[in-house]
Amino acid sequence: MEKNRYDLIVIGGGPGGYSAAIAAAKEGLSVLLFEGGAIGGTCLNEGCIPAKYLLDKAAALEKVRALTDKEIFREPGMFSFKKIQKGREEVIKKLTGGVAYLLKANGVRVIHSFASLTEAGKAECEGQVYEAEDIIIATGSKSMSIPIPGAEYTINSTQALALERVPRRLVIIGGGVIGMELASAYCSYGSEVTVLEAMPELFPAEDERMIAYLKKELVKRGIRICTGCKVKVIEKAGQSRRVFFEGEKPEELYGDTVILAAGRKAVYQGIDVKKLGLALTGKKEIRVDEHMQTSVPHIYAIGDAIGGYQLAHAAYAEGEAAIAHIVGKEEMPLPGKRSGVPVMPRCIYTMPPYGATGLTLSEAEDKGIDAVRGEFSYSGNGMALAEGATGLVQVVMDRESERTIGVQIVGEGAPELLAFAALSVKEGMTVKEWQRLIVAHPSLSEMIKEAALDCFGKSVHGAVR
Ligand code: NAI
Repeated sequence: MEKNRYDLIVIGGGPGGYSAAIAAAKEGLSVLLFEGGAIGGTCLNEGCIPAKYLLDKAAALEKVRALTDKEIFREPGMFSFKKIQKGREEVIKKLTGGVAYLLKANGVRVIHSFASLTEAGKAECEGQVYEAEDIIIATGSKSMSIPIPGAEYTINSTQALALERVPRRLVIIGGGVIGMELASAYCSYGSEVTVLEAMPELFPAEDERMIAYLKKELVKRGIRICTGCKVKVIEKAGQSRRVFFEGEKPEELYGDTVILAAGRKAVYQGIDVKKLGLALTGKKEIRVDEHMQTSVPHIYAIGDAIGGYQLAHAAYAEGEAAIAHIVGKEEMPLPGKRSGVPVMPRCIYTMPPYGATGLTLSEAEDKGIDAVRGEFSYSGNGMALAEGATGLVQVVMDRESERTIGVQIVGEGAPELLAFAALSVKEGMTVKEWQRLIVAHPSLSEMIKEAALDCFGKSVHGAVR
């Protein structure tokens, strides 16, 4: 007979929940995980991973096209969207199967059903009561709807990733991470893409100059981006949709498919917030302290349900912080919480992709830091030229301490380069340390070193200023 008392109950099996469950089991805790949907949550099943599968094939297609344009390849890329979608499903299956195996191998009991939580220390599921000393809520988020007449004629990002056919005309409402990644992928597959973004600029929290560069590259690829555009009404027009919006003047356009990507909001299905007395933030996310403790003792919350960076790797880190606190290990504050320099890597997997860690120049200035900026263009890097990649790297340093405080990259390899960049920000690498660091040649990584040295006019291969 299965027991019903555990050291820890985790509610939600997305990246935050499943990784916290495994980490806790590795610390010797007995762990029960409830997942009512699919193991792996949004990220593995209907978010990051399937999106990256579609984007990777789109990038391969663009590469073949570029080589065909140069007459290096003789045939332009012909592709089967049906096979691409099949491949996406296979990758999801493989990855979710891998996570299920890891949970089992680490001795985590998984109940494939939704649990409800009405008091600390107890979860209920299908008439059974399960008890635990500590509980972690990792219930995630869902696509946000917006009150526009005709919103029912739109599809969400989950549906957008699983389309059977490439839409001829695609309208995307919301130029955030999801909107721009889908725009980038479907543009490569041949859709005529228009993005309608309400804010005056894309990604206002990121580096203005680098985002302007990214936007220029995306527009060059044929994506129409309308910023400062408010969608008024969506109507059905035969098999198509007519979208009325207002920018500088009222306009309308037709789309075979309209995607609504206007943000995600925290969900806490089955969690009786009122009865438990859980404090919420103004955005109705679960409020936590730096150890991920909610306002109720022994109840923790992590991942999208607490807002902040709605990123899988943020959820991993939050899970680790919660487990460290539960087992009484040395405090593990999230990197940057103390120094005021948020190291958290942020990626936009468009083509070209964007990656950033630490502070932008304007954020540094707002904090009263005398910051200096260095840059290096992909056009000066041997590896980038060999690969046919274009882009720009920017490093922000503190003029006084000569320490690295931020890195922003637009260009091929940006998300991978970020690991190295994030380490340099976390460690606050100085100019001297950059000079002593040997980076493989040829490699894209060389550009980060060059951009860092450029902050103080010491870049060897950079433009002379
Ligand atoms: P988001 O908050 O990044 O972007 C939503 C955008 O929609 C905003 O720019 C907003 O101004 C715009 N918007 C809202 N209402 C609108 C309207 N009525 N008309 C036009 N524009 C409107 O949210 P998104 O893209 O849905 O992503 C949700 C979360 O998922 C994000 O927090 C993101 O961090 C995460 N995510 C991360 C990825 C990554 O790390 N690469 C990939 C995909 C999602």
